[in-house]
Amino acid sequence: MFRFYNPVKLISGDKALDSLSYELNQLQSRRPLIITDQGVLIAGLIELVKKTLEGSDQITISVYDRVPPDSSPEVVNEAAGVFRENECDSIIAVGGGSVIDTGKAVNIVVSEGVDDIMQLEGSKLRKPMKPFVAVPTTAGTGSEVTYAAMLRDSHQNVKVLFASYQLFPDVAILDPRMTRSLPPLVTAATAIDAMSHAMEAYISNQKNPFSDAYGFTAIKLIRENLLRVIEDGDDFQGRFYLANAACMAGAAFSNSGVGLVHALGHALGGVCGVPHGVAMNIFLPHGLEYNMSAVKDIIGEMLLPLEGPEVYAQTPKEKRAEKTVECIREFEDELYKLTKLPRTLKEAGVKKDSLEEVAQKAIKDAAIHFNPVKVTYDDAFEILEKAYQ
Ligand SMILES: [Fe+2]
Repeated sequence: MFRFYNPVKLISGDKALDSLSYELNQLQSRRPLIITDQGVLIAGLIELVKKTLEGSDQITISVYDRVPPDSSPEVVNEAAGVFRENECDSIIAVGGGSVIDTGKAVNIVVSEGVDDIMQLEGSKLRKPMKPFVAVPTTAGTGSEVTYAAMLRDSHQNVKVLFASYQLFPDVAILDPRMTRSLPPLVTAATAIDAMSHAMEAYISNQKNPFSDAYGFTAIKLIRENLLRVIEDGDDFQGRFYLANAACMAGAAFSNSGVGLVHALGHALGGVCGVPHGVAMNIFLPHGLEYNMSAVKDIIGEMLLPLEGPEVYAQTPKEKRAEKTVECIREFEDELYKLTKLPRTLKEAGVKKDSLEEVAQKAIKDAAIHFNPVKVTYDDAFEILEKAYQ
């Protein structure tokens, strides 16, 4: 038995953002709080959002623009204060995963009527949520279609996770104009995050035919479009496909889970502050290799969306899994040439003496439960040592 749930209304394509006013109207939203960060603001994307709402005189917008790359409970509480001061009635999160997760967490605080998000860690959410629209400006996390919000508790160096079906956005708007200004390095890191969602969902012990379909297509779209978008950031069609791929990968993993690669990445982010996409790039080939003992054939299946029918057909069945890992490594080498996206912990500037703490945190991370092979501390430490070189 499995459950597959995704209630997010998706609007995707050229000028999709122009639908925002209609969607707010449908949600009976009159006083939205836009939650965003400085990068998005400086790139002029909030102006673009405001422009699409010009003429709708019933809508009063407030803006909170101080979300950091790794959002925290303090940021959430501050943004919730802005929501209340301005008597807002809904949220539009315009940004990457950190911004959208912050938006979800702010929605918890203002809907449940508490002052501090940490009061609700581990609690069941009881009140109806405010209308929530997600407008991703990266093509990576898939947070626009997931029901989780991840924050970083900087006091304890750990990630704090809030998960509830109530956190699903009502609407996600994927407009390639919103990812156009992403520099090549961020484009690559976020797309590899999406690739790791798709691949980990595909090999997860909770995989199902629906998550497989989303994951399979996402792998294909990322492989076909990422390099062309890095070479030409204005390639709108490529940006469109990457945005859709990230969203599909998000829908896949929110229903089947991610595994070891993410457990290591969450731990590395918590302990060393390594950006999530960088960690995914480092750990993805190692995670696939480690899981080969249990799901070799399934890893081999991913060669088809990754490299296409010719390479797939030419590779003997028993060699397809190794070829998949080899192709991921070659893909990452190409990305390194173009963007310098780190492939090893050393390239990412991680200190070797932090590996024990990372391994300890990784085996306690929630993602580890969905990994097809049970991971011990020694296994995790060994992978970290391999990933260091
Ligand atoms: Fe991720």
